[in-house]
Amino acid sequence: MRPPFSPANWHVATLSTGLVVAMIAPVAAQAPRERIRIDNGWRFQRGDPAGNSVDLRYDVRPAVERSADGKVADAEPEAAATVAADTARVLKPWILPTANAFIADPAKHHVRPAGDPGSDVAYVRTDYDDKEWTHVTLPHDWAIAGPFIKDGPYGGMGRLKSWGIGWYRRTLDIPAKDRGKSIFLDVDGAMSYATVWLNGKLIGGWPYGYNSWRLDLTPHVVPGGRNQLAIRLDNPGESARWYPGGGLYRDLWLTKTAPVHVGQWGSIVRTPAVSAQRAEVTLALTIDNDGSAPAQVEVASEVFALDAMGKRTGGVVARVAPLRQMVAAKGSARFDGSTMLTNPRLWGPPPTQSPNRYVALSTVRVNGRVVDRYETPFGVRDIRFAGAQGVLVNGQPVRLNGVNNHHDLGAIGAAFNVRAAERQLEILRDMGVNAIRMSHNPPAPELLELTDRMGFLVIDEVFDSWERKKTPLDFHLIFPDWHEADLRAMLRRDRNHPSIMLWSVGNEVGEQYTGEDGAKIARELVSIVRQEDTRPATSAMNYAKPDMPLPAEMDVININYQGSGIRTLPGQYPAFRAKFPDKVLFESESASALSSRGEYLFPVSGSLSGPVRPGSGGDPDTHQVSAYELHASDFGSSADREFAAMDQNPGVAGEFVWTGFDYLGEPTPYYTSRSSYSGIVDLAGFPKDRFWLYQSRWRPELKFAHILPHWSWPGREGQVTPVHVFSSADEAELFVNGVSQGRLKRAPYAYRFRWDFVTYQPGEVKVVTWKDGQPWATETVVTTGPATALKASVDRARIAGDGRDLAFVTVDVVDAEGRISPRAGNPVRFRVEGAGELVATDNGDPTDLTAFPSAVRNAFNGKALAIVRAAKAGPITLIAEADGLAPTRVVVTALR
Ligand code: GAL
Repeated sequence: MRPPFSPANWHVATLSTGLVVAMIAPVAAQAPRERIRIDNGWRFQRGDPAGNSVDLRYDVRPAVERSADGKVADAEPEAAATVAADTARVLKPWILPTANAFIADPAKHHVRPAGDPGSDVAYVRTDYDDKEWTHVTLPHDWAIAGPFIKDGPYGGMGRLKSWGIGWYRRTLDIPAKDRGKSIFLDVDGAMSYATVWLNGKLIGGWPYGYNSWRLDLTPHVVPGGRNQLAIRLDNPGESARWYPGGGLYRDLWLTKTAPVHVGQWGSIVRTPAVSAQRAEVTLALTIDNDGSAPAQVEVASEVFALDAMGKRTGGVVARVAPLRQMVAAKGSARFDGSTMLTNPRLWGPPPTQSPNRYVALSTVRVNGRVVDRYETPFGVRDIRFAGAQGVLVNGQPVRLNGVNNHHDLGAIGAAFNVRAAERQLEILRDMGVNAIRMSHNPPAPELLELTDRMGFLVIDEVFDSWERKKTPLDFHLIFPDWHEADLRAMLRRDRNHPSIMLWSVGNEVGEQYTGEDGAKIARELVSIVRQEDTRPATSAMNYAKPDMPLPAEMDVININYQGSGIRTLPGQYPAFRAKFPDKVLFESESASALSSRGEYLFPVSGSLSGPVRPGSGGDPDTHQVSAYELHASDFGSSADREFAAMDQNPGVAGEFVWTGFDYLGEPTPYYTSRSSYSGIVDLAGFPKDRFWLYQSRWRPELKFAHILPHWSWPGREGQVTPVHVFSSADEAELFVNGVSQGRLKRAPYAYRFRWDFVTYQPGEVKVVTWKDGQPWATETVVTTGPATALKASVDRARIAGDGRDLAFVTVDVVDAEGRISPRAGNPVRFRVEGAGELVATDNGDPTDLTAFPSAVRNAFNGKALAIVRAAKAGPITLIAEADGLAPTRVVVTALR
């Protein structure tokens, strides 16, 4: 049996400018390991061919009797339905063996049955002519281009048709000189139920769409011949509570090695003892010998520092002495080494610490000949979970100012893109975020590279459901067969990332309700975490109470919404704190506050927090939610109410807000919309007012005062138009056209200044603030004139012309003074000249059903976004035009 492995070796790093660079190329020339990204040359088709003799399904799925559409997110999950249908002809028995490397007990390993199902299906055959299929480049999300579904059914998965069957075909380049090599297909993520054929033979697959997995192609490839890959995906409807996307939505790689090589995710770095003077570094490497003779193997490693961009810098800083051992034919062996770093540069979250990193470069020799080189980036840090003291990073308490994020990247969907993810993290960091929960599934591997590099603390989460179901066809269908493999796969892939502080084995699972039975499953999952890693395990609980069996199984207490109270349930922080004095406690989901950027609805609630109802926070006609930021999902709370609950419970380590960014699907409270309302930042990446509320708390040193709403209300003259201000100041005075509306002192447990009885008159609203008696910040908002022009700005003036890097262009509708026109909804036409192309447009409006690739996009409350890419070097000009407004253009240079 092959022992566990761990990550390394994808060598894409981004510069702070976001340019994607190859990290460490020269070693490839000296050693036979090659890692080739296979992103182009794919052909794609939806649906199965007609007339197959075999049932191509992974398994028979239960009939969906009742849709889960529009179900309240915290509804109790139900018992699984049983499938009575004949499952004899399905492909599951041929797929399950792919899990074997991740099943600890050899007695439970799956044996591939005889036969070669599907080999007669036209699409898998080498001679099938696929020239009518669509050309696609990976990462590819087959649903994101739309169109949006105008009538039902649509529910949590949203209005883009991500469900259904899709096929991908591509030939693989395996030259004759590769004879004798080990050859693997590495899939970073395929949504979902992947089945893979090579040259007409079924090789294996992996159902769960969020994990990374490998197939050994060695016995099946024909070096020097034509090698035809065919991948079938079968993404079930009713399988998620959010938009999953569909397709080969992350990278695929062809990995070629010598028969003796570092295995899949085959290194484990740990730093068990860390001080400012010294750090002990242990490095375990698992070497596979795919050859037919035993090999005398030597492994030696050198450690280098990495710079901020992830490039090696300087000479060797430590060495792991050579280790020697025989590795049996078709066997594996683990080489355990260690070394000492003096004056280590520690990894820790900014702004108080720096995310310094190192890389271990391991060289594998057989009879003195180099057969493999393998890199393991890592960080030296000590993270302690210290009960009521919270989380200590390198001895320093770090309050968790976190957010949850789903995996989609707005207008480009689930197709992973490093720059789009980096941009999200930059916006969040600017707000003061220092921690991210990967809700509710393992992310793209590059996202963890980004969190390592930028210094975010991460909760890596594997499942949204266990045996009980939230939607009729979710993960519960395969939990019995796959939970061990899926959990171990996440742990082994991700465990060298310094940013990961905590593993989450579940989110709001139905097993919270099943007492000891649920706790038993939790025990099994937590014990798997302990076998693979030293970091603690948790599971997010929105229902389980301190005296129930489930919380006791967790190393860290993660509660969703309960901390500050759910509906009529009083806040649970004190009860959890008292019951688990030695465990760290925090809200893994907080707030679930809802709003639409720039939509201010009247009357404004006088209370601090409440559910969205018609006329109270919500407009049932426009399906917009008020940006006064006082409303939440039925079980949630405003940001302010969460702050107050935490400040009254100092033993709470922090929060992870639901959510940092709006996401596709789950559009509570208006299920006809395309995307959520819960983001602090909208789907296009434009901050809502809440951004400044969090920033005032998380970056209290920043001198600003943010006023809401805008002050351009023709027709509201003389009507009550409350003015609220977000600032870390402790005193503030508001003036409307020079007339004071009163000077306010910040009250205990209040996080905004509010003047709720201001009457609107055009002109100027000004706030003057003080902190500790000293002037702090002043802000003015004025009534704008008619819109006259468009104004463009771009996030970066230079991008890589590599077909992947992106420029994000913001277009504002402005008046003659260049001030944003806060209600403008003009249709904006985008055009690209030169080296680039328009990828997608957006505006952050959850109700906008214009397909994302559209070159025409209505501004939403004065703003629109265009996403641009270049496949070659040269200048790119993005031109934006709208009837009756002066056009605008912005130039971006694509570099080679
Ligand atoms: C939670 C759930 C999240 C999301 C959120 C919506 O109950 O864990 O996945 O559904 O509610 O507010």
